[in-house]
Parts: sequence; structure tokens; C-alpha cells
Amino acid sequence: MTAIAASALQLQGIHKAFGSFIALQSVDLTIERGELVCFVGPSGCGKTTLLRIIAGLESQTRGRVIQDGRDVSSAPPAARDYGIVFQSYALFPNLTIRDNVAYGLVNRRRGRAEVESRVAELLKLVGLPGSGAKYPAQMSGGQQQRIALARALATAPSLLLLDEPLSALDAKERERLRGEIRQLQRRVGVTTILVTHDQEEALSMADRVVVMNQGAIEQVGAPLEVYERPTTPFVADFIGKVNVLSATCVGDGRYRVGQVELAVPANGIADGRPVRLYLRPEDRVLADSGPLDGRPNRLQGSVRNVDFLGTYCLATIDVDGFDGQSMLVYFSLNQALELGVREGASIPFALRGERVRVFARE
Ligand SMILES: Nc1ncnc2c1ncn2[C@@H]1O[C@H](COP(=O)(O)OP(=O)(O)OP(=O)(O)O)[C@@H](O)[C@H]1O
Ligand SMILES: [Mg+2]
Repeated sequence: MTAIAASALQLQGIHKAFGSFIALQSVDLTIERGELVCFVGPSGCGKTTLLRIIAGLESQTRGRVIQDGRDVSSAPPAARDYGIVFQSYALFPNLTIRDNVAYGLVNRRRGRAEVESRVAELLKLVGLPGSGAKYPAQMSGGQQQRIALARALATAPSLLLLDEPLSALDAKERERLRGEIRQLQRRVGVTTILVTHDQEEALSMADRVVVMNQGAIEQVGAPLEVYERPTTPFVADFIGKVNVLSATCVGDGRYRVGQVELAVPANGIADGRPVRLYLRPEDRVLADSGPLDGRPNRLQGSVRNVDFLGTYCLATIDVDGFDGQSMLVYFSLNQALELGVREGASIPFALRGERVRVFARE
């Protein structure tokens, strides 16, 4: 019989109170080896607190932290096996890049030759070979975060913890580093937790996304799963853009919005109940892909506003018969030109009923 390898990390019933304030409640999560998991959620939902508990920098009120099968719930930071990078460049300003990266290795009394070759290897890994003699102040924000990453990886930890490592960078640099971190993580194979409040960052980088809200986990899943099948209104709202329509269930899979009846297959809400329909701006069919007549959920609406966002546009459309409820509808730039999408134009489209998520309204 072969032994089953322990998961990289298990959080069991983590609870954290600061005085009477509950920062985390009953957080359960298992992370497998080599995964890149993103904790995402609005400011104050407890992401950093959870990361600090994993690191041993904060102690949980209740619950257990198991790393590689070992209970580290009350172990001090130094007795745990991880590297960490914070939002602000936490490099030592008075040390050279070489000494910053070597810090953990020197602490562990590694030999000089080993330290030198490891530092050179790490600087190459993060794309900054030969920068060892510089000081942090001589480097850009993005370069400093690459160095912080090299420092965190120096002792070859089995777990890498990143708390908003990109949020102080400009948009271009942030996007570039996203890709670099993802590639580096794959190459090194280190289990990684990345904290971010940026849902786009989470969707583009993670193997699995952990969506948090008010100290609790709302949903855990692959990016596409969380985007396409949010299990709560909060997740539907927080991840991506979404239209929320007030509606009433008027029969099996039929919902009325204003004067219009929509067909939405497969859901379990009973007759007469007030609900909210959640639908992404891209879940529509347009006339450029064939005639819309005879399609279910065919609508017509007048364009109130068009937001031009580069390769695509988001139009706010006042839908005929919706009694004042408007919708955001996605058009590629070419579709917008071809279909004449501009303020005041009347545009036909159809909703993809199978894409609609239905949640009961209290
Ligand atoms: N040491 C502390 N004492 C009291 N309250 C705290 C402490 N640390 C955090 N909190 C509170 O716990 C909650 C969660 O904080 P945390 O820093 O984990 O949020 P976050 O999800 O990381 O937010 P952000 O995206 O803004 O970084 C917040 O309401 C915060 O005010
Ligand atoms: Mg935080």
C-alpha cells in the first residue's frame, strides 16, 4: 500500500475574534500541493488575517492549521515552512539586493559558496541577474517585488504566501508581473496563496479562487466555475460584472420582469416568489450571428449610454417592457459599429436563458 501524501495545507474551523469583532468564522479549506489559490474579497473581509494565521503571525481564537500533515496551529513563525511577500516592498533598505535575498540563507547558516550560487540562481529566476550589488532604492517598484519574491523563495519553502504583492504597481507592470509570478510558480512548483481584492487578478492567476465575505468563505472553485456558476448573490456580484433584474416566478422556469416573460430553464424556485435574476453582460445573442425572430427571450431596447472600453463596449440599454429596469450589454467594438450601437438607437437582442442565475429575493 502506498501512503497517501498529505495535503499542502488544511485549515480546520478557523475562527478569529479581535475583542468583540469577529474577523473570521469557521473557515475550512484544503489546499493541494503545487496549487495556486487566490483569496479574494472586499476590503476588511479577513484575507490578510487568514494569511497571517497561516504564517503564525497572528493566532487564531479557535481551529487548526495543518501543514504537510503536521499540526502547526500553535507553532511560532520560525518553526513553520513558508516564504512571504507583502504589499509594500518590505526589503531592507540598508542592505544590498544580494544581502536581502541571502537573508534567510545566512540565518540558517548556509555556507558562503552555497549562498552565492543560490542568490545568483534566484536573481536569474526573477529576471534580474547581476543586480546583487544594487540597493532597493535604486530599483523600480516592480523590480523590488521581484526581489521580494526571490527572497521569499530563497530557502525553497514548500508554501509561498503573497499578500497583495502587485497592488502598489501601475497597471502595465501589474499585468506583466501577474504572468511572471504564474510562470515562476509553475516552474518552481511551490504551493502558493495569493491574497488580492482584485477579482480580475484572481481569475487570471488562480487554479482555485476562494471568495471571502465578512470573515467567511462564500465559494471555492476554479475561476471559470466561480464566474459561470456563482452559488450566492454576493459571489455573482463580486466576481465580474452582472445585471441584477427584479422578477417574479410565474411558472416552471418562467419569470416575469416588468411586462416581459423570460424562459429560464432548470431552477427550483416555486410560483409567485419574488426573485432576482443575475445575468452577465455577455450572455446575449445579437443580430450579427443570424436572425433573432423566433428566438426565446428576444428583447428590444434603446441605448441610454455606451461606455467605450478599448476592444469592447458596454451599453446601458433601457429594455422595452422592463418597466424601467435597464441592462448592461456587451458588444465587441466591431459589433457595436456593425449594429449601430449608439445613444438613442433601438437594438434587438436575445438573452441566453440558460445562463441566468436565479436567487430568491427576501
Ligand atoms: N489587530 C487587529 N485588531 C482589531 N481588528 C483587526 C485587527 N486586524 C484586523 N482587524 C479587523 O479585521 C477585519 C479583517 O481585516 P483584514 O486585514 O484581514 O482584511 P482584508 O480582507 O485583508 O482587507 P484589505 O483588502 O483591506 O487588505 C477588518 O475589519 C479589520 O479592521
Ligand atoms: Mg489585507
